[in-house]
Amino acid sequence: MLSRWGHDPHALVQVLRETQALTHWLPRALLTHIAQALNLPLAQVEGVATFYRFFHTRPVGRLRVLFSDNITDRLLGSEALLSRLCERLGVAPGQPDVQGRFSVDRCSCTGLCDQGPALLINHHQVITRLDTARVDALAALMLSEVPADQWPADWFHVDNKVLRADVLLSGLSADAPTLPEVLAREPQALIDELARAGLRGRGGAGFPTARKWQACRDADTSTSGPLRCVVCNADEGEPGTFKDRALLSEHADAVFDGMTIAARAIGAQQGWLYLRGEYRYLLPQLQAVLERRRASGLLGANAAGLAGFDFDIRIHLGAGAYVCGEESALIESLEGRRGTPRIRPPFPVERGYLGRPTVVNNVETFCAVAHIARRGGAWWAGIGTASSTGTKIHSVSGDCERPGLYEYPLGTPIAQILADCGAMDAQAVQVGGPSGACVPVSGFHRRIAFDDVPSAGAFMVFNPSRDLFEVARHFARFFAHESCGLCTPCRVGTELVVRRLDKLALVRGAGRGSAFDLQRLHELDALLHSGTHCGLGSSACNPLRDTLAHFGEVYASRTATPQFEPEFDLDAELSAARRVTGRTDAGAHLHTEHKP
Ligand SMILES: Cc1cc2nc3c(=O)[nH]c(=O)nc-3n(C[C@H](O)[C@H](O)[C@H](O)COP(=O)(O)O)c2cc1C
Ligand code: SF4
Repeated sequence: MLSRWGHDPHALVQVLRETQALTHWLPRALLTHIAQALNLPLAQVEGVATFYRFFHTRPVGRLRVLFSDNITDRLLGSEALLSRLCERLGVAPGQPDVQGRFSVDRCSCTGLCDQGPALLINHHQVITRLDTARVDALAALMLSEVPADQWPADWFHVDNKVLRADVLLSGLSADAPTLPEVLAREPQALIDELARAGLRGRGGAGFPTARKWQACRDADTSTSGPLRCVVCNADEGEPGTFKDRALLSEHADAVFDGMTIAARAIGAQQGWLYLRGEYRYLLPQLQAVLERRRASGLLGANAAGLAGFDFDIRIHLGAGAYVCGEESALIESLEGRRGTPRIRPPFPVERGYLGRPTVVNNVETFCAVAHIARRGGAWWAGIGTASSTGTKIHSVSGDCERPGLYEYPLGTPIAQILADCGAMDAQAVQVGGPSGACVPVSGFHRRIAFDDVPSAGAFMVFNPSRDLFEVARHFARFFAHESCGLCTPCRVGTELVVRRLDKLALVRGAGRGSAFDLQRLHELDALLHSGTHCGLGSSACNPLRDTLAHFGEVYASRTATPQFEPEFDLDAELSAARRVTGRTDAGAHLHTEHKP
């Protein structure tokens, strides 16, 4: 396997992933062997192995079950199902059974919120639509050690339920110009068409795509050599988002067309699809599409019949780290390192993968490129609004009758999406995932657009029975868990937010919340918003900020104490000592100690 990867140190993440698929976990001796074989320091290999959630440096079960832990899975009862499975198997979460047969744990959102609760088996297969019957049957199969490939096939079924298709989800029309016809145009003309379209990236930040490509095309390559790269960001880690999953499953050719057009426009030779580890089950079909494209001459030497256009696409699998969706962290991961966001400038368009000018775009952006290149920039600019052109795909989940995929022109009001998905009594919608915005009823007239409510794709609905404080606390835990730890305000700040919310939630404080705690939360929000290195830290308090602003009552009911109280009751902590010594007098109580 090491020779198949050419003993390339940049392939470290892939080598670890494939090794672990055989050995289940990564003992130190194995890491030492890999370090020697790739000529890397052991510390670097261990640093990578401990960074990614899907790598295990301690023993785990031979069969590993990971429950998706997005709030939508929880609303559908995932916690009770996890407890039930653990009980049936006789294990505690995160602990393998004594024979090392299996372990059960949680992972971040698996991108299956429209058909949850869901879980991952060996980071490789997904089981959707869990209920008690399915969990009981699963436990029985696991206990009798029936291999996963003999489990009922319908358990693994993933639906891409398209409930409103516009141009992207309808697919390319049969009479559209072919890719070779598109690529025969001047590279600059391809960029100009995107500029005319006004296309802005669909991955969250909304950066103008033509400007990004132009910067990459114009980048100085005197120090990096002439090579350039195109990367498709299919990390889709934002909880509640699953539109890229559907595009990759149903419209992979359009995505690869978009990447090939980008390569032609900027002069790239190499393409990467960075596929999140949770979508490992899509790998065989994506490889098959790439093989078919190579066979038909759309990839490889002189691709699409263009002399000298040698462009091919490889797939890199992530290993369970949300921060790797950040484009510079993604490039670090592609190079075989921990997914730590880089200091910018230089930006990836100047120095990206292996120092080469690199364009990173979202899956949906590349799909839009494939359409724009065929139908023209003016056509795309005619959809949506003047400043937010084209359509946007929404991954709708939560408290609604019809969860699934909905594509609308940008500028569509939230109320329309709610009506269409059957969510007439929503009290709030989380648009764009935890790092997006929590919009209350008073904001349902607002529109999904870059200049109103921008969205990276998630649309999670909460009805009035949901406690939005608990939703915000859940998202706070997500960010604390996913912080890469590079900068202190994020590493420590996200933990402090969790502890403070736990105190209000009565987990630690037992009614000890006060206005002082809310003030501290506001301060932490300000600190994280301004003092962190990447977008993860700066958006980590968005759910807190929005729920404090719009749903203050759910915090007020938890801040009944007029003055500050410490997180835990010092006097209560001494009760064991009082029992042992048999003391019940006032002097044995902390709060009377300093009284005259
Ligand atoms: C913590 C974090 C996670 C991100 N995750 C993703 C992701 O999963 N997919 C994505 O396309 N962009 C993600 N982004 C945005 C990327 O950094 C980048 O802006 C985007 O891929 C550019 O593509 P676009 O211009 O087509 O939007 C993330 C950003 C941050 C800060
Ligand atoms: S803000 Fe958080 S995730 Fe981003 S670099 Fe700093 S520690 Fe890492």
